[in-house]
Amino acid sequence: TIDQKVNVLLKKMTIEEKIGQLNQYTGDNSATGPITINPNKQAEIKAGLVGSMLNIIGTKYTRQYQELAMQSRLKIPLLFGQDVIHGYKTTFPIPLAEAASWDLAAIELAARVAASEAAASGIQWTFAPMVDIGRDPRWGRVMEGAGEDTYLGSKIAYARVKGFQGNKLGDLNSVMACVKHFAAYGAATGGRDYNSVDMSERMLFETYLPPFKAALDAGAATFMNSFNDVNGIPATGNAHLQRDILKGKWNFQGFVVSDWGSIGEMVAHGYSKDLKAAALSAITAGSDMDMESNAYRYNLAELVKEGKVSVDLIDDAVKRILRKKFELGLFEDPYRYSDEKRAEKVLNNPENRKAAREVAEKSIVLLKNDNETLPLSKNLKTIAFIGPMVKEYKANMGFWSVELPDLDYEKWVVSQWDGLQNKVGKNTKLLYAKGCEVEGDNKEGFAEAVATAKQADVVILSIGEKRDMSGEAKSRSDLHIPGVQEDLVKAIQATGKPVIVLVNAGRPLIFNWTADNVPAIVYTWWLGTEAGNAIADVLFGDYNPSGKLPMTFPREVGQIPIYYNHFSTGRPPADENSKGYVSSYIDLKNSPKFPFGYGLSYTKFNYSDLKLSSTKIKSNETIKVSFQLSNTGKMAGEEVVQLYLKDKFGSVVRPVLELKDFQKVKLNAGESKTIEFTIDKEKLSFYNDKLEWIAEPGDFEVMIGASSADIKLKSGFELN
Ligand code: IFM
Repeated sequence: TIDQKVNVLLKKMTIEEKIGQLNQYTGDNSATGPITINPNKQAEIKAGLVGSMLNIIGTKYTRQYQELAMQSRLKIPLLFGQDVIHGYKTTFPIPLAEAASWDLAAIELAARVAASEAAASGIQWTFAPMVDIGRDPRWGRVMEGAGEDTYLGSKIAYARVKGFQGNKLGDLNSVMACVKHFAAYGAATGGRDYNSVDMSERMLFETYLPPFKAALDAGAATFMNSFNDVNGIPATGNAHLQRDILKGKWNFQGFVVSDWGSIGEMVAHGYSKDLKAAALSAITAGSDMDMESNAYRYNLAELVKEGKVSVDLIDDAVKRILRKKFELGLFEDPYRYSDEKRAEKVLNNPENRKAAREVAEKSIVLLKNDNETLPLSKNLKTIAFIGPMVKEYKANMGFWSVELPDLDYEKWVVSQWDGLQNKVGKNTKLLYAKGCEVEGDNKEGFAEAVATAKQADVVILSIGEKRDMSGEAKSRSDLHIPGVQEDLVKAIQATGKPVIVLVNAGRPLIFNWTADNVPAIVYTWWLGTEAGNAIADVLFGDYNPSGKLPMTFPREVGQIPIYYNHFSTGRPPADENSKGYVSSYIDLKNSPKFPFGYGLSYTKFNYSDLKLSSTKIKSNETIKVSFQLSNTGKMAGEEVVQLYLKDKFGSVVRPVLELKDFQKVKLNAGESKTIEFTIDKEKLSFYNDKLEWIAEPGDFEVMIGASSADIKLKSGFELN
């Protein structure tokens, strides 16, 4: 068995070689943190002092590095890790955009394709999925997650792990998942990356941990801990998180890697007095592999000698890592993932590009469509396509795309302009003007843009953030559309032409004037290599948009953190405008600009006929909730129907409503279908003040919504 093989190997290893397995270095590509000590990595690999490398790109280089490991005494292969977050070469929408699809099969497929491409290029391990709940759009890393909701986030976490890992580790089209960042990284105070987190244990268990548990249930091979402290203890040195919960209560058998330099950063946290103390805290707390801190490499042996770290503790970490190397088949053939022929066949092949286009279409959210401005007719004579994003190539990749060397982005990414050109026939003339830059206050291009708009039947305006304005270390205090782009929208809108605005971003942005004045708005996030084609498909109705927002869009930054499933207060405002001694702002409504779960279609859906199989149940019984969904419009379309519950009274205060299930349903024009959900004890449970997961007797409200703020059908039942 693998365990026997691991034990045999372990017996042959010196303490230095064991510690070597716990040591990970970065290659020469993209550093996302300081490289504190710069050792002779190649010599160290040959000496068996390195267990894993990250940021080594491509079959050739991974092979070269593996050859070094094969010169070491025990020939223990290296693991190659990489941030394959939303595609390897074929690039899919950023994860937050994919979450907007609410299409678990599509999300799993995206991870599957990414895994197959990465696994042909020498990578066995992706640092994904990120499953941090993101309730604060100032935090730039919301782009990498599945949004604000625990239920949706858990389903997506599960799908992504399944996608990356496939049927089993060791299959040549799969990679190990690394669920990150354990834990509560998304709750950084003020939305500032790496910042402290202070939260109740109940909040941790109920809201932030379930997506990690779901990923583990899907079989996730590894976890990454996080930069932040949780209630005063850095996550990397946090035994409660890693030993008690992850490896204890949840019985996680894989290994935990630190985040980049996060062991060393415990010194800056003021938690460890030096790197040696940090190494001691991290290994004791359950961090198995050290990413780029050099803390284990230079301190663990001494700590063992001093009797502060037991060899058993080291052995446990080493075994966890070796087990994965065996499962991946690396001992049989250390080069099996670095396969030029397979890479040539798999990378960016037409099938993968087709998948990327389909997932991109599904990720787009139609926010507004007054007067049926969209879809556009294919017989328009002239379309003006205006804005700083129109002819961008790399921008469509969003943050965390893999920086493959020597890539000709113009050949490989379908820009928004290219996509439109591919779509329209010869009879339609396309006009272009840039208008302005994304940032800065230069309006010199406005006159040309306005003149261009005046010549067209319809104007499409593409605005938003730059791709690297969201992502790691990309927190923002101002979420309005940057620069003078909204002024450009005003100038174009003043021409009286029908205007469609595309918003490209890695997070919810604020664009109140546009939302209130422009007839059609499409949220396009960052959609990857097929961005242009997918956008054109939606604009012309070849794909009927079906995305729904996975995060609440605020009216102003002052409302943040803002999320739909907030607790009930003792002084809730009676309505949107009530002021006075109630929980509201004196200068702004409480409600968001666009709520969680919101998104339009070109067709209309009608909800009717809500039925509950019972109005009184015992906790071992279930209730079937059914209703009729009808497509009453003129086009086939998909609707994400959402089941929300409210526990009306609890021994602890409960949210105003909570998503507990959803289905994405496709209906032809005129078609109706009975939709059914099952409510069981699990859906009614929460953590009480003793941290027990229980369903309390009492009244529950059942709501069926087209969004968290658009409840179509309502009923209730009693649990006793
Ligand atoms: O995987 C990432 C992590 O999410 C942030 N710090 C760096 C890691 C490796 O690139």
